[in-house]
Amino acid sequence: MKRFEKHIFICENKRPDDSPKGSCSVKGSPVILEKFKMRLKELGLNDEIRANSAGCLNACAFGPSIVVYPEQIWYGGVTVDDVEEIIQSHLIGNKPVERLFIKDIRFNKDAS
Ligand code: FES
Repeated sequence: MKRFEKHIFICENKRPDDSPKGSCSVKGSPVILEKFKMRLKELGLNDEIRANSAGCLNACAFGPSIVVYPEQIWYGGVTVDDVEEIIQSHLIGNKPVERLFIKDIRFNKDAS
C-alpha cells in the first residue's frame, strides 16, 4: 500500500515586502496550507493526501503557487476560497481545476 496517493506542495517562501519578485507567503499561502490541512483531516483524507509546506517553487510571478503530484498540475493565484474546489474537484474527483492552472507551458503542458 502506498503511503500517500497525492501530495500538494504549497509554496510558503517569504521575501521582504519590497522584493521585486514577490513571494507566496506575503500573498497569503500560509492560510491556504492551513485550510488544506484542516479540510483533509475533516474529510478523513489525511492518510491518503498530504499537504506540505514548500520553499520557493520557482513560479513566483504566479503565486500563491501550488503543485499537485503525481499529476504535476500547477496552480497559481490560488486563494483560500479555492481550496475546497481543488479538494472536491481535483483531489477527490480527479478533475483538475483548469481555471487555476498556471498558464505557462513550462508548468502545465496542456495549458493555453
Ligand atoms: S515565492 Fe512562491 S514560487 Fe517562488
